[in-house]
Order: sequence, then structure tokens, then C-alpha cells
Amino acid sequence: MSKIEINELCASPAILGMLSNLLIETVANGGSVSFMHPLQPDAAQAFWSTALAAAARGERIVLGAWDDERLVATVTLLLDCPPNQPHRAEIAKLMTCLSHRGRGVAASLMRAAEELAVKRGRTLLVLDTATDGGASTFYERLGFTLAGEIPDYALKPHGGPTGTRIYWKRIGLHTPSGG
Ligand SMILES: CC(C)(COP(=O)(O)OP(=O)(O)OC[C@H]1O[C@@H](n2cnc3c(N)ncnc32)[C@H](O)[C@@H]1OP(=O)(O)O)[C@@H](O)C(=O)NCCC(=O)NCCS
Repeated sequence: MSKIEINELCASPAILGMLSNLLIETVANGGSVSFMHPLQPDAAQAFWSTALAAAARGERIVLGAWDDERLVATVTLLLDCPPNQPHRAEIAKLMTCLSHRGRGVAASLMRAAEELAVKRGRTLLVLDTATDGGASTFYERLGFTLAGEIPDYALKPHGGPTGTRIYWKRIGLHTPSGG
């Protein structure tokens, strides 16, 4: 595998197409990323179009991992928090294409997202992941702490309920006061 490059994604027809294909493949293979299988290309494009418009307004950062000309993974850093939570950011829509899993691509994306959050003065990251088929172990290895679990929170892409696990991580030079 050639070197993986990570950068911030902006809207273009090519990038929208690659993000949509990645989302469709992820959902088809059971990834809990808010959608049900089969995910139609129009719905996937509409989601990413809205996401990249929000990124253009500075409300989020959509990172892409590239293997040469191919987008192989993505993660979103949500920055648009309520006025009383200016120190917080949220991780969402982390997914790696099947062909590139288990090679550290998602871990690299998470490190890049965390660095960007720190640069923007954020000191707390939160995320959630499905109890059934999610990435709990992956996030715990990256230093996230489990806050708790909500049962029957969502449907899995192919049906059937799953709980969700809420995680948090202090980042940057913040000195914890309460944990
Ligand atoms: C979760 C996901 C993004 C990980 O992508 P990846 O690029 O394969 O992850 P990495 O290779 O960086 O993983 C790093 C480590 O975590 C492990 N890991 C990866 N996914 C894991 C999972 N779902 N559960 C437990 N461990 C996992 C890897 O084996 C690897 O371990 P190693 O360093 O000992 O080899 C990928 O499995 C995926 O796209 N899943 C479907 C979508 C999804 O569930 N996203 C998370 C939603 S919150």
C-alpha cells in the first residue's frame, strides 16, 4: 500500500461521489453510521453535500484519507456546539473502506482530527458507537473513556436494535478538574 495522505475535504463532484460510495459500502457491510441498508446513492450524496456545506461554513471538518487518487476513509469533527460548550467537539462518521481496514488508517484519521480539535482550542472530545458491531475497542485504545450505554438506541443497517455507547476524551493541555 502506498503512503496514506490525510487532508480536509471540500465539495467537488468527484469527492461527493467517493464519499457517497464509501458510505454506501460501509452501511451495506453493517457499519452503524446513521443509515439503513440499502442506502440509495441520492441519499448518500445529499448527506455529504449538506455535510460539506457545513464544513465550508466552518461548522465541521470532514477529513479524508487518500491512497493515491482514491479516498479510502473519512472522519468528521463536529465543531458547531452550543454557546455553553465552546470547548467541546464531536467525532462522527468514521469509516474506512473494506479494502483498507486493519492498516491503521482510521487511527491516523482520529489522531489528525484530535490535533485539529486542539488547534481550535477544544479540550473535550465526545463520540458514540454502536454496542453491537461498533468500534468500542478501537476508541478505548485511543484513550476514550466509556461514559455509559443506552440500550436499543438505534437500528442496525440490516435491521434489529442495538444500543449505543457514549465515549469522551480530554485533549490538549487541559487539566482535568472532574475526571
Ligand atoms: C471502525 C473502523 C473505522 C476502523 O477502521 P480501520 O482503518 O480498519 O482501523 P485501524 O486499522 O486504524 O484500527 C486500529 C486498530 O483497531 C482495531 N480495530 C479496528 N476496527 C475495530 C473494531 N470495529 N473493533 C475493535 N477493534 C477494531 C484494528 O484491528 C487495529 O488494531 P491493531 O492496531 O492492533 O491492528 C472500520 O472498521 C469501519 O469503517 N467500520 C464501519 C463503520 C464504523 O463502525 N465506524 C465507527 C462508527 S462510530
